[in-house]
Amino acid sequence: MAKSSDYLVGLDLGSYRTRCLVALEEDSHLRFISHGSAPSRGWARGVIADQDPVLASVEAAIEEAERNGGMVIESAVVGVGGGHIHGNICHSYVNLSAAGEEIRQEHVDDLVKAAAQAPLSSDRTAIQVVPLEFTVDQQITVKNPRGMKARRLDGHAQVVSAAAQAHNNVHAVVNRAGIVVEETVFEAFAAAQAILEEQERELGVAVADMGAGSIDLVVYVDNDLRLAMGIPLGGDHFVNDVAEVMRTSRADAEMLIQQYGCATVDETPSNVSVEVPALSDGRPQTYPRRLLNEVLRARAEEVFGVLGRELRRAGVRDRLIGGLVLTGGLAALAGACDVAEDVLDCNARIGLPPRIEDLPDQLDQPGWATAMGLVLYGQRLRLHRKRRREKAREWLKAIFE
Ligand SMILES: Nc1ncnc2c1ncn2[C@@H]1O[C@H](COP(=O)(O)OP(=O)(O)OP(=O)(O)O)[C@@H](O)[C@H]1O
Ligand SMILES: [Mg+2]
Repeated sequence: MAKSSDYLVGLDLGSYRTRCLVALEEDSHLRFISHGSAPSRGWARGVIADQDPVLASVEAAIEEAERNGGMVIESAVVGVGGGHIHGNICHSYVNLSAAGEEIRQEHVDDLVKAAAQAPLSSDRTAIQVVPLEFTVDQQITVKNPRGMKARRLDGHAQVVSAAAQAHNNVHAVVNRAGIVVEETVFEAFAAAQAILEEQERELGVAVADMGAGSIDLVVYVDNDLRLAMGIPLGGDHFVNDVAEVMRTSRADAEMLIQQYGCATVDETPSNVSVEVPALSDGRPQTYPRRLLNEVLRARAEEVFGVLGRELRRAGVRDRLIGGLVLTGGLAALAGACDVAEDVLDCNARIGLPPRIEDLPDQLDQPGWATAMGLVLYGQRLRLHRKRRREKAREWLKAIFE
């Protein structure tokens, strides 16, 4: 029987839904155990504005997952996203023995640690430090310096940081729910673990986790994390636009988008209409379906235009041979990939969670990819820790033998 600490738990805190996914590693493959989710409240512009309603949502999602799985959740890998997240490329170096020394994993780890401590303003917290490339003795640049002999090792790393206050609030809410935070992970980075093929990272690929409050973006080129940022645009903007144009409530606008919405217009017949209650008196009003889709298309073009500008600014706009992968709840908007392809002139596809054993069909949706990525991140984290423990054991054995 599995212990509580054996479970891999991904907790995706979003401004629209909190999602919790539990899996177990068995013979190095993952088996789905349970999930829970609850609507969110208490967020504003992609950050926690009021902890209490967020806590209620986190507790509801956790309790549902515990009930479904017949187990107790003690710790989780937790997602952080939002417009306050961005990555910076930092440089650091370590001096090795003056006579030259073989570069080992520890040296690489020291370098990554040094990069993590690179000066960030006091209001920011580093959440991911991802090594990019290394320079050996200031001469040759390599991806993997292990085993080479050198006197000095330089390295560049992508340091993804979050606004300290926003990050602390996520931590505090999860702790208040009685859950230990194993690690906080940028949500698009987590989603990328779940939906990308190795080859896509080589070719050049962007992942956009499209939520309600933000679009979290990562880009890989030559297997390197070249861009990480949150863009403060998301499904909320689509819902607000439709509510405003159709003079209806946000809840009705959202229902309309999910049932009838499409971000392309060409195939929408001009004589089909949709019915929606008026905000003023709740009476049904009729609008052409084409109008709904025109509103969605205009916003989608703007969103992908902003994405394109950020990609260009980072110098990766023309490097996306592997295309763009859309995930998160908003990726389910019909026609989103078509608009992305038109605006960005690259292939676009939807990223779904990988089909691990026993995964229920209802989780086969882009909204669950990030939670699955957090579980996969947790799996790698444990493997890494296990290796370190084994190394430490070998080292101690060598001392005492
Ligand atoms: N079928 C659909 N068509 C269009 N939009 C959809 C659909 N399903 C969900 N959405 C939109 O997706 C958004 C929610 O996505 P998601 O659940 O990924 O958000 P979140 O992770 O809670 O938010 P965030 O990460 O920004 O804090 C909402 O704006 C919702 O209206
Ligand atoms: Mg999200």
